[in-house]
Order: sequence, then C-alpha cells, then structure tokens
Amino acid sequence: MALVTGGSRGIGLAIARALVADGVQVAITGRSAAHLSAARPKIEAAGPGAVETLQADMRRYDQVTAAIDATVARFGGLDVLVNNAGVGIFTDVATMTPDQWAEVLDTNLTGVFNACQAGVPHLRRRGGGYIINISSLAGKNPFKGAAAYCASKAGLNAFSEVLMQEVRYDNIRVSYVMPGSVSTGFSNGDETKGADWKTSPDDVAGVVLDLLRSDPRSIHSRVEIRPAQPKK
Ligand SMILES: NC(=O)c1ccc[n+]([C@@H]2O[C@H](COP(=O)([O-])OP(=O)(O)OC[C@H]3O[C@@H](n4cnc5c(N)ncnc54)[C@H](OP(=O)(O)O)[C@@H]3O)[C@@H](O)[C@H]2O)c1
Repeated sequence: MALVTGGSRGIGLAIARALVADGVQVAITGRSAAHLSAARPKIEAAGPGAVETLQADMRRYDQVTAAIDATVARFGGLDVLVNNAGVGIFTDVATMTPDQWAEVLDTNLTGVFNACQAGVPHLRRRGGGYIINISSLAGKNPFKGAAAYCASKAGLNAFSEVLMQEVRYDNIRVSYVMPGSVSTGFSNGDETKGADWKTSPDDVAGVVLDLLRSDPRSIHSRVEIRPAQPKK
C-alpha cells in the first residue's frame, strides 16, 4: 500500500505505474482533477496493482491528512510514502514575489512535512515501511535564478536526514533521491524537449523500486541520478 504525491504527471506518474506493475496498491495525489483523471487509466494499465486518485494540495495540512486517511481506508494501511509533488519557479530573488517564494517552499518542503507528520503513525502501525523523498541535485548545486527551488530542496535533504534518524528504530527507512534533468513538463516545460539526453521518469521510478527491494539491513539514504551525457 503506497501513496505517491504528485502522481498525476511526470516522475510521480512513472513511479505510480512502476509500483502498480509490481502489484502494489497505489494512491496518487494531485491538485488538478483533470490531470488525475487522465493519469488513472495510464496507471491502471500497468496492472496488476490497483490505483486510487485523490485530489489534495500538499500545501494544505487538512487535505493531506484527508488523503492519507482515504488511502488507509481504501487499502487497509500505508507501507510506502513517496513524496514527489514539487514545483519550480525560476526568477531572481529581486523579482520573485512573496507568493512565488511561498508556493515553492510550501509545496516542496512544508508539503513533505505535512505528509510525513500525518503518515508516520500509519507506517508505525504497520510495523515499519519506507519514505522516499524526491529531491533534486539543485539541493546541493545552487544556481542563479533558483533561490527558492534550491533552498527548498536543500531543506528537504536536511529534513530527510533528520527524519531518517528519528524513525529508523521503527523499521521505517527514509531515503531521498536527487535527480538531475528529467524529461517531464516540470515548471511548464515541454516533456519532449531534451528527451534524447535527459534522464527518463522511468529511470527515477526504477531507483524507487530498487530502494524498496533493497535489503532492510541497510538504507541507501541519499541517491543521485543524472543524465549520463548531458547536452554540451
Ligand atoms: N523534471 C526534472 O528535471 C526534475 C529534476 C529533479 C527533481 N525533480 C523533482 O521531481 C518531482 C516531480 O517533478 P516532475 O518533473 O515530475 O514535475 P511535473 O511533471 O510538473 O509533475 C508535478 C506533479 O506534482 C503535482 N503537484 C504540484 N504541486 C502540487 C501540490 N501543491 N499538491 C499536490 N500535487 C502537486 C502535480 O499535480 P497537478 O497536475 O495537479 O499540478 C504533478 O502531478 C518534483 O519534486 C521535482 O522538484 C524534477
């Protein structure tokens, strides 16, 4: 039983498909009902697992707890939480509005706190589980015009390492994955652009599956994945 936040598009959609293909029952969240409806058949087709779509804005604690409760009610528990929902707004600090700053930090960092705070008791109830946070190489490689995004992902890395230490004796493993450029529609981009050299969302999904299958004796706590041959 898994919850993938932001599972209606891009990397989250690929992760949900890979989990369902592996026979897992998966709930996905997203803001847009239209995107969730479009994603459902794509995930179902991966079978044999099942999928539930839940409209929830990760910035809203009440909506996050409702989504987690709905997942537990539908599937009987929660074993895996993949915090993938994220946004990027790229502009210099001097031109960034407070609302844009808040949108990035509230989604990429507070949204993960919301899901972990609400989700951990359910994982404990199951005797353990796995939390995988989708961060970014931007969390360790800051670049101009990306203050909010880089800060949110650097914060997410620190958050993940703290949480890992807090819940490890509950048999809950915590990892964070830091992709480089992935071919999705992230930040209103064109998912087909650069698809010949960018990392595929399916490759990130493969990392998530590998983490879940890894021996519980160890935690691959931080994983980096990047294009093998970035455009020169
Ligand atoms: N693409 C890259 O190059 C790249 C590289 C490194 C890391 N990442 C990280 O990977 C994650 C996924 O990115 P992506 O490329 O797959 O992006 P994407 O194609 O834009 O998909 C983002 C997903 O997150 C959902 N979402 C956004 N804000 C949300 C909110 N407040 N509440 C609930 N759902 C929300 C979207 O739902 P709606 O459809 O409803 O908007 C969508 O399902 C992000 O955390 C991103 O920072 C991406």
